[in-house]
Amino acid sequence: MKGQILKIFKREKRIVSGEALSSELGVSRVSIWKHVRKLQELGYNIIATTTGYRLIDSIDALFPWEFPDRESKIHFFPKVTSTMDVAGEFARKGCSHFTVIIAGCQKKGRGRLKRIWHSSEGGLYFTIVLRPQIPPVLSLRLNFAASLVLAQLLRQMFCIDAMVKWPNDILVNNRKISGMLSEIEAESDMVSFLNIGFGINVNNDPAAKEPAATSLRCILGKKISRKQLLSEFLDKFESYINNVNLDNVIPEWKKYTITLNRRVKVVTSHDISEGVAIDVDENGTLILELADGSIKKVIYGDCFHI
Ligand code: BTN
Repeated sequence: MKGQILKIFKREKRIVSGEALSSELGVSRVSIWKHVRKLQELGYNIIATTTGYRLIDSIDALFPWEFPDRESKIHFFPKVTSTMDVAGEFARKGCSHFTVIIAGCQKKGRGRLKRIWHSSEGGLYFTIVLRPQIPPVLSLRLNFAASLVLAQLLRQMFCIDAMVKWPNDILVNNRKISGMLSEIEAESDMVSFLNIGFGINVNNDPAAKEPAATSLRCILGKKISRKQLLSEFLDKFESYINNVNLDNVIPEWKKYTITLNRRVKVVTSHDISEGVAIDVDENGTLILELADGSIKKVIYGDCFHI
């Protein structure tokens, strides 16, 4: 109902009477008044006059009704520990494929290798629950698909030189703008769910806590609509994974990576290696050539360009 009321406000661009809203939407004027009051409480700038209501300007809200085509699968929480925790609970309770958990901020945002992901207001924090019918070994390709689609979208929407750093970071001018984290559960060699969490620095300023990070607002010098970015990303990512042959993901991802053919330090949960990143195989494993000429394969870790 809230989405429908907002749609009418945006269409009319003038004062709309409670009576007109109630007859178009088939609910009582009291019900309209309650919804409008709730929208005002949520931060929407709606004025109420003796003749009706008017939306003064749009806000960058991430409530489910802001995504009308996928409203039933979007869940927004103003503050959570981590969207990964919430998405895990939803997935174990059987939520459907492509359910999206969004948070305004996170108290315990997690990064890879148990790092903290600082998650203040203004950033975009969400986790998508996927239920691909694939064996776990192929699932990493979906993480690479996610970083590929996001890098392409950032280039297209903002004309910025977004590049991917193994495994799934997105950098602009060598500074991190987005990171991804995934959690998987499998049953009898089939993925039961794969949750991919995205942290995108949009209107927040992460540099104080993470000097090597930046945000879209810092790069572009203006506020960016998180809703538009998220909406376009969800459409593009969903369509990509529905249509792509997973064999094509890594070759495409390689066109946007800055990791290959350079010296790197790779940190995993149990060791640190240095070498030249010579390739990424079809499942996303990083192939390193070490100083003694031997080859080391790293499935999961963090990579630092040196
Ligand atoms: C990394 O680069 O280390 C991964 C960062 C992933 C951050 C996102 S924010 C949404 C989701 N919830 C979390 O706690 N982490 C991921």
